[in-house]
Amino acid sequence: MDLGLRTRHAIVLGASQGLGLGVARSLLGEGASVTLVARSMERLATARASLAEDEQARCDLVAADLGEPDAVEDILRAAQREGRVVDILVNNSGGPPTGLPSGVSIDEMRGQFDKMVQPIMTLTLALLPGMRARRWGRIITITSSGVIQPIPHLPISNALRSSLVAFMKTLAGEVAADGVTVNVMAPGRIGTARTQSIDSAQAKRTGRSEDEIARESASSIPAGRYGTIEEFGAVAAFLASVPASYVTGSVIRVDGGAIRSI
Ligand SMILES: NC(=O)c1ccc[n+]([C@@H]2O[C@H](COP(=O)([O-])OP(=O)(O)OC[C@H]3O[C@@H](n4cnc5c(N)ncnc54)[C@H](OP(=O)(O)O)[C@@H]3O)[C@@H](O)[C@H]2O)c1
Repeated sequence: MDLGLRTRHAIVLGASQGLGLGVARSLLGEGASVTLVARSMERLATARASLAEDEQARCDLVAADLGEPDAVEDILRAAQREGRVVDILVNNSGGPPTGLPSGVSIDEMRGQFDKMVQPIMTLTLALLPGMRARRWGRIITITSSGVIQPIPHLPISNALRSSLVAFMKTLAGEVAADGVTVNVMAPGRIGTARTQSIDSAQAKRTGRSEDEIARESASSIPAGRYGTIEEFGAVAAFLASVPASYVTGSVIRVDGGAIRSI
């Protein structure tokens, strides 16, 4: 199937590793050009070096911390340089700390809102008028399985990402007739540095080994394993594609069957 992405430009947030890198690679593999965003230019450069030569030529790197006030402006300036338009926005962020809901600090919650929600909404709203005017756009927001089945020890993630789901669903209804689709992805457990750090935190909490925690976690997933960033990226590339024009307002699970509800 031709995904029709060869003339499209995408911004992918949190793209130097993990899920964002998986998505960026899939889009580049389909011929799109991509602006990769993360805080560390060194990690971004390593990510770019892992790509094929023609893909490297189609990707720009922007070092920006989503928690800083100028980040959105810096990202837009780089992505829209020389009049280039942005057709696809893949929203993503770093994950918040783990802990019990009873121990959540409201200051921490506010700080995480400023990194995980505010910049995503600002960037989305900034790019929307152009997408609507051109009658084509794709907004994809990476959240978590926790927005469907809240994850113990991730109260901030569960709460803040749910607010993004509600916002994106509301937005999807407003812009569907303008050729702009708005979808949310809900990863279960995809093997990345973040999953590893969560397993490691659980290992510390319970006094067990990280390997044991990872094995137990994998065996609780119907697929029997963690997903790969390639599997995740492939779903994102389809959502970004021309043939996905009638998929909007959805929460797409990429979880190997981990979420138990329908
Ligand atoms: N992997 C999973 O199975 C899974 C499941 C559910 C939810 N999630 C969530 O999905 C998101 C991505 O997960 P992941 O596993 O890919 O995480 P990851 O491996 O930790 O990657 C996070 C990416 O975001 C960038 N980043 C972090 N903080 C940033 C900031 N303040 N500003 C700009 N970029 C920032 C990182 O690069 P720099 O450090 O250089 O900035 C990196 O490129 C996380 O929020 C995670 O909690 C993941």
